[in-house]
Amino acid sequence: MSYNNLLVEVEDRVVFLTINRPRALNALNDQTFEELRHFFSTGYRECGDFHGVLLTGAGDRAFVAGADIKEFLDVAEQGNGEQLSRRGQEVFFLIERFHRPVIALVNGFALGGGCELAMACHLRVATENASFGQPEVNLGIIPGYGGTQRLNQYIGKGKTMELILTGDRIGAEEAHRLGLVNYTLPRDEAREKALELLRVIGSKGPVAVAQSIRLVNAYYGGDEGFHAESAAFGETAKTEDFREGASAFIEKRIANFRGK
Ligand code: HXC
Repeated sequence: MSYNNLLVEVEDRVVFLTINRPRALNALNDQTFEELRHFFSTGYRECGDFHGVLLTGAGDRAFVAGADIKEFLDVAEQGNGEQLSRRGQEVFFLIERFHRPVIALVNGFALGGGCELAMACHLRVATENASFGQPEVNLGIIPGYGGTQRLNQYIGKGKTMELILTGDRIGAEEAHRLGLVNYTLPRDEAREKALELLRVIGSKGPVAVAQSIRLVNAYYGGDEGFHAESAAFGETAKTEDFREGASAFIEKRIANFRGK
């Protein structure tokens, strides 16, 4: 199994899955999404019998800094924002519904689609330098990979509203205090903790583990909110503000939004 943007290594029955675009802070471009889809739908079968997956980002700055904003001008051109959002949601559902535990080792920025990816994992262990946020408003759009739904599940309505409306980032300590991450630890300890969790879960009955994942997810019900999010993302992606927000990021300047 060979991917361009994902590294897959198996050691002691743990799959180490690393998003490997460090120069773009591991931003999720189109190809990375397709590779994640491939791994979590069929590719994992080539890894033999494993306890679980440790998902992280390459380098020491970022887990994932979001969807690849440099592909956004094409999205604005093609008007396919709703499909883009749906595709990402589908890939993240594959992770959330995976039969083995997927633990995010959040080793830096987890922003936008990166925060949404971490939230789709079953557990999150953060390093002390990690930060989290849904900065889509800065680009004139909204979260589109489940952020409006899952952030509520982890931290409740008040703080979700604040983070999504302001686009502010929070540090790893606060993310821990709010319940967004399970543990915040120094770098080496964080990795050890994630591996220990995988070892512990790996010693349990695999059928019980798979059913537990399924049932904890079932508590949160249907996909209605996710569909509404995709449709709304599609609407915001048709605005001039979206084009302006993406251009401003690429040109390294402040966006000038006009509400249309
Ligand atoms: C593409 C990105 C990127 C991204 C960073 N880079 N984030 N490229 N997409 N999301 C690139 C930068 O352009 C730059 O490349 C390099 O990575 C290093 O980033 P810098 O900005 O120079 O680093 P720094 O000043 O330290 O700032 C780090 C940062 C900032 C705070 C993380 O990069 C940032 O704000 N990134 C965008 C975060 C974001 O808005 N994420 C949400 C995206 S929307 P060059 O070539 O210039 O050196 C999203 C929506 C999902 O995820 C829903 C869709 C349906």
